[in-house]
Amino acid sequence: MRGAMVVNGFLAGGKFDEPAAMMSAAARGLGIELDVVRNCDLCAPIGERPLDADFVVFWDKDVTLAMSLEAAGLRLFNSAQCIMDCDDKARTHLALARAGVPSLRTIPCPKTFEGVGYTDRGFLMDAVRTLGFPMVVKDCFGSFGQQVRLAHDVTELEALVTGDRPMILQEYVECGGEDLRIEVVGGEAVAAVRRKAKPGEFRANATLGGTMHPHEPTREESELAVAAAEALEADFCGVDILKGSDGPVVIEVNSNAHLRNITECTGIDIATAIMAHIRYTVGRHGMLDPVRRAGPGEEQVLRREAQGLRELRGARVRDSHRRQRRSRGRA
Ligand SMILES: Nc1ncnc2c1ncn2[C@@H]1O[C@H](COP(=O)(O)OP(=O)(O)O)[C@@H](O)[C@H]1O
Ligand SMILES: [Mg+2]
Repeated sequence: MRGAMVVNGFLAGGKFDEPAAMMSAAARGLGIELDVVRNCDLCAPIGERPLDADFVVFWDKDVTLAMSLEAAGLRLFNSAQCIMDCDDKARTHLALARAGVPSLRTIPCPKTFEGVGYTDRGFLMDAVRTLGFPMVVKDCFGSFGQQVRLAHDVTELEALVTGDRPMILQEYVECGGEDLRIEVVGGEAVAAVRRKAKPGEFRANATLGGTMHPHEPTREESELAVAAAEALEADFCGVDILKGSDGPVVIEVNSNAHLRNITECTGIDIATAIMAHIRYTVGRHGMLDPVRRAGPGEEQVLRREAQGLRELRGARVRDSHRRQRRSRGRA
């Protein structure tokens, strides 16, 4: 079995190189070949396959490329839709709400246009009435806690929400700077840590100085994390959970979660769990595109079969239209 791992070609070095090294080692351990490829080396006409692989581990947020690879018949882990929904915090909360997964009251800020900004800020006062202060203000596209802030009053809120980028407003949960990160792979919670923010900080992210401790999740916490992964249709993900007054709630689902810290903290080899899940899934279903699975001789046969099926389907549709017209004529 041979796969490719797509990474961003412009964010090199440090923590951005780690996932490729960890996933490559995990693949080697399972006897899978995994080539690491940069997104910028895969520019190809839409619908044409720029790489040859049985599967793609997509560790980038280049959603257009992900969609393009899927359009060319490749199976992505995670899917383009999952990465798109996880990358945008407003979309994440929409997916969670649709699936009925407990989360927090979250208001997406209205869309405006570059150079226009928010000429009417009435919606902020509505949000204050709904969510109160302190209020959590997040960029839709942000990570490592860096684009998550607290507004304590209207002046702070207005300074943060300028309309220059998509944002969400969210109710604040007082939990002493603690949260949980639960890794879900193939519908199972495989590892969990409790994170604690450094003193004076409400964000528990390790990048902002938070500390991590191994955590044995309760059944409720595990089920919540798995439900969040299902809501986002994630093959694997890191789910951030806060302990609200009415029980645990999901605040974020990371499709390309940082692996090293949680692996070191728990001693659980998450990269191997991910690769094993991929091997099982690809082995069970094969590639989505039958042409790729076939040897060179069978390829033309399969193409002809696919063409035949399309024609058959078209004929059935035309027949049913004809029947409908005839029955309307009789009526
Ligand atoms: N609504 C909230 N109430 C309290 N703390 C929060 C809330 N939302 C986020 N946090 C804290 O901020 C951290 C970062 O938020 P998160 O939504 O996970 O964004 P990021 O993608 O930057 O990690 C969380 O891990 C948590 O500690
Ligand atoms: Mg987070």
